[in-house]
Order: sequence, then C-alpha cells, then structure tokens
Amino acid sequence: MVEKNAKNMKDINTIGDAIKVEHLTKSYRIVKKEKGLSHAVKSLFMPEYQTIHAVNDISFSIPKGEITAFIGPNGAGKSTTVKMLSGILTPTSGEIWINGINPTKQRMKVVQNLGVVFGQRTQLNWDLRLGESFELMRHIYRIDDAKYKENLNMMDEILGIQSFINTPVRQLSLGQRMRGDLVAAMLHTPSVLFLDEPTIGLDVEGKYAIRKFIKEMNRIKGTTVILTTHDLGDIEELCSRLIIINNGKIIEDGPLAELTERIAPCKELIVEYYDEKPVEHMRAKIVSQEGNRVTYQFEKKELTGAQLICEIAAQKNIKDATICETKIEDIIRIAYGA
Ligand SMILES: Nc1ncnc2c1ncn2[C@@H]1O[C@H](COP(=O)(O)OP(=O)(O)OP(=O)(O)O)[C@@H](O)[C@H]1O
Ligand SMILES: [Mg+2]
Repeated sequence: MVEKNAKNMKDINTIGDAIKVEHLTKSYRIVKKEKGLSHAVKSLFMPEYQTIHAVNDISFSIPKGEITAFIGPNGAGKSTTVKMLSGILTPTSGEIWINGINPTKQRMKVVQNLGVVFGQRTQLNWDLRLGESFELMRHIYRIDDAKYKENLNMMDEILGIQSFINTPVRQLSLGQRMRGDLVAAMLHTPSVLFLDEPTIGLDVEGKYAIRKFIKEMNRIKGTTVILTTHDLGDIEELCSRLIIINNGKIIEDGPLAELTERIAPCKELIVEYYDEKPVEHMRAKIVSQEGNRVTYQFEKKELTGAQLICEIAAQKNIKDATICETKIEDIIRIAYGA
C-alpha cells in the first residue's frame, strides 16, 4: 500500500513536466593510468581501477514546450546525460521520467514519446536511400499513412529534402544527412526531442535550416527540446533556459536573462571625447583609457547605458558613445570558470 502511494506521488510530481530527472548519476570503472613504462607494464598484469562520475547526482525538470540548452565544456557529461534520458544508457543511480515514463524500465513505451538526434552519428541506414530510411521508420513506429505524408510534407517545406530523398544515405553531404536525421526523428511526432550537437560542422545555411526547423517544431507541435551544443548562435536563437554542466555536476540552471544578470551584473560604455579629460561619474568606474576613448563600467541595476550617456553628455561634449552588451560568450566563459 505504502509502495503504491509512493508510486502515485512520483506520477503526480511529473505532471506538467516533459522531463524530470532526480539525482541522476553515471559512473564508469576505468583502469587507472599512471606515467612511466614500469607502471604501464604493471597495469597490464595487475590493473588498478578507479571510478569516474561522468554524470554526478544531477536533478532538473523541464516543463512541456520549453527549449533548453544543455551546455558545458568537453567531457562535462552532456552526451552521457542525453543517452540516459533516451534510454540508450542505464543510469548507475537516480530517476528519470519522460512524460511520466521511465526510459530505462519502459524503453518501448518511451520511444513513442521521443525523438533523438546525435550530430556526430547518424541514425539513418547507410545502405538505404533517404526516403527508404523514412519508410523504415514508418514501419518501426507504425505511423499511419495520412500522418506520415502530412509530417513529411510539413518538414520538407522547412528543410527542403525532396531534392535528395532518393540519394543513398552514404552519399549525402553532412548538411543533407542532418536534415534527414531530423526528419527521421520527428516522423512519429514525438513530444520530446533530444538534440546532441545538431549543428556540428554545418555551414551558415545548414545551421540556419536546422535552427528554423527546431523553432517551427516547437511552435507548431509544442515539442519540448533539450539541445546540447558548443555553438553560441544556437543558444542565442533558440533557448530561453540554460543548464550548464561541468565535471558531471550542474553548475548553473535558469533563464538566460537571469543568468546574465547574476553572472555579469556590469555593462560597459565606451565614450569618445574631443580631448583626453573624461568626465568622472559617481556610479560608473573608468576601467581603461586610450587617448580620447574612455571605457566606463557600471552596474546594470544601478543605471542604464542611455542614462549614463545623458549624464556624461550634460557635463561635456562627446563625439561618440557605444554601449557594450554582455556577450553570451562571456557569460558562459565566466560560468565555466575559464
Ligand atoms: N564508456 C565510457 N567509459 C568510460 N568513460 C566514459 C565513457 N563514456 C564517457 N566517458 C567519460 O565521461 C565523461 C563525460 O563524457 P560525455 O561524452 O558525456 O561528455 P560531453 O559533455 O558530451 O563532451 P563533448 O562536449 O566533448 O561531447 C568524459 O570524461 C568521458 O571520458
Ligand atoms: Mg558530447
């Protein structure tokens, strides 16, 4: 009875969340590597092991319809997390719910809710033509004819796949292959989409198409998206929320605007004067000066760039003024501790 109630509690907790993760951990036991020939020989016969935590006790939840960037430096644990969320890897400990379903225990049920794309590895069959790969998906997911045609047409309008639909997958360019992978992942209209570096290696046009596709799927179908990426443009264009992971731990989680506010509370203003004597300001610090060009730093909550320009210009004629917006690149660099 107690167990049944506990189960119901968990179901209730996941309502409204497309994804819920609690204390998720993935550990690997690996051979300890030490420098030197003698250690190398010793480890051949008597290997010593150590445990590494690729993902170390992370918890988060994502409401339906949200596009979240899951970012972090190389080796942080992003792909390992995505693989556990999609049921490809079994967690060492912790719990996952995708629309209330546990992907490890109910793999067959969860796949109907999920689309997964790995930028580094295709899910398509190399030996088939792209269209045949889609047909295969249609059978695997038992998609009815009308829905299949409707989805394919809708996605073709955004991604333009008709011109290479009869090309064997192995002959597709990277950009074409990525478009194909996205279509294949969305043919059964999953409500949750995991994208692991979907724009990696793509040119400007390719990135544009993929981003447009993600936006449109989110807008039209309300798809919940987790996106891992090293491309700041992807984040800027698509994501309202950032989860930052480092060494297997979540180090930041929140709306992009809130993180910017907290991590980078200051802004800069560059003022070009007619001479080398800048105006002193009570609430803005001069951080550098090169001839007539003076850089002020001020707290965003204290005053706006426009206010500062007005107050300086009221005291002295200025030639030019530029407000430097905080770049997302800087936010992430500071958060990573780089
Ligand atoms: N099968 C495995 N055996 C041992 N260690 C592993 C295994 N898979 C991943 N790791 C380790 O787990 C850590 C996290 O790897 P993961 O691939 O999740 O990183 P990532 O954040 O996706 O990095 P990247 O940005 O380079 O793709 C790394 O230190 C990696 O070496
Ligand atoms: Mg990765």
